[in-house]
Amino acid sequence: AEGDAAKGEKTFKKCKACHAITNGDDTIVKGGKTGPNLYGVIGRTAGSYADFGYGADLVKAGEAGLVWDEETFEAYVKDPKGFLAEYLNDGAARSKMSFKLAKGGEDVYAYLVSVAE
Ligand code: HEM
Repeated sequence: AEGDAAKGEKTFKKCKACHAITNGDDTIVKGGKTGPNLYGVIGRTAGSYADFGYGADLVKAGEAGLVWDEETFEAYVKDPKGFLAEYLNDGAARSKMSFKLAKGGEDVYAYLVSVAE
C-alpha cells in the first residue's frame, strides 16, 4: 500500500525516543541517541552512518549489500532481529534495535523519504 507521510510523521513519535532526524545543523526531529540519525536513511547502506556504534550483524548485512529501500525498511522495522536472521541466513543473528513496529511502516517510509527530499 502507498504510505501516508502525514500519518508517518505521527507514527515517528514511537521512534524518536531513540532516533533523531538531523541534517547538519538542521534538526528536523530532536530525538534520542540510542539509535542512528535517520536523515537520508532511505537509499543508504545498512549500518553505515558515521560515528554510530552499530551491532556487528547489521554492519555485516550492509557489507553483504543491504540497502534501505521500501521493502527492506518495512520488513526491518516490523521485526529487526527476524529480518537480520533471514537476511544473513543466521538464526543467531542479533539486533541492537529491539523495538518492533507492528503496523504503519509504509507511512514512516513515506515520511522519511519526504523529509530528506
Ligand atoms: C537501527 C528505524 C525505533 C533503536 C535502525 C535502522 C532503522 C531504524 C532504519 C537502521 C539504520 C541504519 O542502518 O543506519 C526505526 C524506526 C523506528 C525505530 C522507523 C520507529 C518506528 C527504535 C527505537 C529504538 C531504536 C524505539 C530504541 C528503543 C535502534 C538501534 C539501532 C536502530 C539501537 C541500531 C541497530 C543495530 O546496530 O543492530 N532503526 N527505529 N529504534 N534502531 Fe531503530
